[in-house]
Amino acid sequence: MTINNWSQKARKRWEEDRASGGPVRILGIETSCDETSAAVIEDGRIIRSNAISSQIESHKRFGGVVPEVASRHHVENITIIIEEALKKAECTLDDMNAIAVTYGPGLVGALLVGVAAAKAIAFASGIPLIGVHHIAGHIYANRFVKEMEFPLLALVVSGGHTELVYMKGHGEFEVIGQTRDDAVGEAYDKVARSLHLPYPGGPHIDRLAQEGQASIRLPRAWLEEGSYDFSFSGLKSAVLNVLHNAGQRGETIEPANLAASFQESVIEVLVEKSFRLIKERPVKQLLLAGGVAANQGLRSTLTDRAHREGIELVIPPLSLCTDNAAMIAGAGYIQYQKGNFADLSLNGIPGLPLS
Ligand code: KG4
Ligand code: ZN
Repeated sequence: MTINNWSQKARKRWEEDRASGGPVRILGIETSCDETSAAVIEDGRIIRSNAISSQIESHKRFGGVVPEVASRHHVENITIIIEEALKKAECTLDDMNAIAVTYGPGLVGALLVGVAAAKAIAFASGIPLIGVHHIAGHIYANRFVKEMEFPLLALVVSGGHTELVYMKGHGEFEVIGQTRDDAVGEAYDKVARSLHLPYPGGPHIDRLAQEGQASIRLPRAWLEEGSYDFSFSGLKSAVLNVLHNAGQRGETIEPANLAASFQESVIEVLVEKSFRLIKERPVKQLLLAGGVAANQGLRSTLTDRAHREGIELVIPPLSLCTDNAAMIAGAGYIQYQKGNFADLSLNGIPGLPLS
């Protein structure tokens, strides 16, 4: 088999596998940021394994992800993690029907490690290669909980993205609103840093918020009438101002109260905008996706509101909220069914658009 006729051969393999009617096993790979992950999933919705190696400890001392350090860790871990995922799933590469990999958005050096590994395995095994958008992966993490019903709205809240994504069908993403500055996870991490909390700060703010009172007045960025976009940099600056002004007056601010006030402002805007959009464009389901979906305050406020409005809400389990390869294989399965394959020129694209 040569590189030139590789995708044709892979397609032939796909047709044969479909005709045989056996289970479809997809090996997923995710290396877009600071988690090296590989997973084996079956028939789109069964997780056979989901191995994750987090680099958080290496980045903590820098207060954020250092791209070169991330790439180096991915290179060191990728083979081990793939072997671990196959072993946990009690499979070998011969049992795989396709390989799905995140090819954007993310850190270019980090993406390239996963893409190169996936291309090498696809070429060596003669199986189809599928390029997956990282945010599509986060959205499809919900399909391990509940089958999707369209149209649906996904509220995507991660370290790099804050988006309202409307879906009419599988793989059809329409971005209706997005952040104009900081992503919500980024705002969490920056506020946490100003309170001297370790990276990543989101979970720490979440925990503190549950211990405090939302007693400090902070702004809500509603933006102009009818806009579904978000903005969190003003809120972040307001938090820094509160700390700075208190410092100048020699007063102390209770970190738990500041965390609770910040979190209340974030959640109010996210939840209100989601339901305003649902009023305008009715949907069958509301999905929560991305690392900030692990936030307890957001999960419970959305759950209450969805219950009151009679909307079905789907939220991934905590283990599938932050970056993992099961969600990538899950989104890849939809493309597998459509026969939507990449060829060996697949490259990492840091700013890959969703729609
Ligand atoms: O989706 P993700 O793992 O990576 C990206 O694709 O960006 O999201 C990571 C982000 C970080 O900003 C982290 O602080 C935030 O998710 N996060 C949280 C919580 N757990 C993780 N933010 C708020 N509350 C949490 N419990
Ligand atoms: Zn992510």
